[in-house]
Amino acid sequence: MVMGEMKVAVEALQAGLVLDLQQNPGMPMNKRLYRLLRQRILLGDLPAGAKLPATRQLADALNIARNTVLFAFEQLQVEGFVETRTGDGTYIATTRMPAGSAAGKAQRKVAERLPDPVAPVLSRRAHDVLGQQFMSPRISGGTGAFMPGVPAIDDFPLLKWQRLVQQMHRLPDRTWLSYPREGGVHELKVALSQHLRLTRALQCRPEQVIITSGTQQSLDLLARGLTDHGDDVWLEDPGYNGARSALLAAGSTLHPIPVDDEGLNWEASPTLPAPRLIYITPSHQYPMGCVMSLPRRRALLAYARAHDSWILEDDYDSEFRYHGPPLAALQGLDDAGRTIYMGTFSKVMYPGLHLAYIVVPDGLAMPLIRLQARLYREGQYPLQAALAEFLGSGQFASHIRKMRSLYWQRQQVLRHSLADALGEAPMWCGGSAGLHLVTLLPEGIDDVQLSQRLLQRRIIAPALSLHYGGAHARQGLMLGYAGVKEADIETAARILAEEWTAAGTRANV
Ligand SMILES: Cc1ncc(COP(=O)(O)O)c(C=O)c1O
Repeated sequence: MVMGEMKVAVEALQAGLVLDLQQNPGMPMNKRLYRLLRQRILLGDLPAGAKLPATRQLADALNIARNTVLFAFEQLQVEGFVETRTGDGTYIATTRMPAGSAAGKAQRKVAERLPDPVAPVLSRRAHDVLGQQFMSPRISGGTGAFMPGVPAIDDFPLLKWQRLVQQMHRLPDRTWLSYPREGGVHELKVALSQHLRLTRALQCRPEQVIITSGTQQSLDLLARGLTDHGDDVWLEDPGYNGARSALLAAGSTLHPIPVDDEGLNWEASPTLPAPRLIYITPSHQYPMGCVMSLPRRRALLAYARAHDSWILEDDYDSEFRYHGPPLAALQGLDDAGRTIYMGTFSKVMYPGLHLAYIVVPDGLAMPLIRLQARLYREGQYPLQAALAEFLGSGQFASHIRKMRSLYWQRQQVLRHSLADALGEAPMWCGGSAGLHLVTLLPEGIDDVQLSQRLLQRRIIAPALSLHYGGAHARQGLMLGYAGVKEADIETAARILAEEWTAAGTRANV
């Protein structure tokens, strides 16, 4: 397909989208684009074999997020309307019947009616969530390289843990087996609040702690408890797609706020509406890894106080801090009670445990515990009691210490082996804490394409650009190292370097 034709396709799509916007104002953009492309294909305006514009080019031309375009393309691919040729692009598949035939006429009628193409059983908010989100792919039987966010499960002291869990199931408090409504086992709240005061300088009494079944439930509970449908919420950009999903599903109006080296930079966008919630990862920005500076922390606390906003501080992995003393949490600096601290046991224990917690200001605990009981019920009390024992006996702190040194070593292996295989050190972001690094790609390499090629070689390296909600995404890869054995890191780094170099060569021809 030559450039001239490609340009016409973009312009035609622009015009079609404007028209469709007037006719269906409430429809999410990804669905709108999908419908339009599908209709144009069925009508024959986009002929079989024609190449669609690159996702980034189309996103820029239509002034929409690239994720939106990717969703539309993916949906069309699943339904057989387009086919993706690796490393080349997306082409219209041969789906049309000959124009004069009966089948061709029937097809045209279908296209003109423009039926709702996406499964009608799903709600609009489910489509919004599924359409805007990127989920890390799963591959069975791989080495785990470089799945972000997964700790070293093989190194978890499973036998000791099993013994504790069995013990708690043998001698359960009878109320644990009923419908408890305490916001979690008291002993766990006591052990956790002590741990958080000591290691994170939190202002925290056991009564302020609510145990949840994971960060997604924490976010859902907070969104439902503190916002109404349509309320404004600020999120970091790039940011955590799990938070984006939960807040979108709760009906929030999301505002992606750029992140710089000092963290959330809301002052760069002076016309933003004051939000009800501000979701941030100040101790280890997800995914870039920066730490929010003290002046920014103070300014954000002052802003939240002045505008009655709630700050949701997600401190998901900073137990694994590699340099200097542990960082104090933002919540510890807040003397106005506007910060809600969120943590998870997924990284320090294992993700399948499904336990997390929030620490809320006085006055919020009781209503949120009651809401939690109404919306989701509570449970897993014997497991929570085992966790309390794990913390209280010092096994938790000892496991963190061991994993911290293992993860630091694995991070070094990743840095060195990728630099060796590439012949030069790549540009890294983050690394002072956590379980992953971000590497930025040289000009001209498309992170989504590179990530897809790596997946074909059984390597997971999510594209950085898919973690942006706004425009102007940077190109990079997220590389999780904590759960990958050293030898596997080295092998996977060599494959990554091969694909990276090949992508660079293609970009330069
Ligand atoms: C920013 C962030 N918050 C929280 C979590 C943990 O969530 P969960 O408690 O659902 O495992 C993750 C996991 O990767 C994360 O990246």
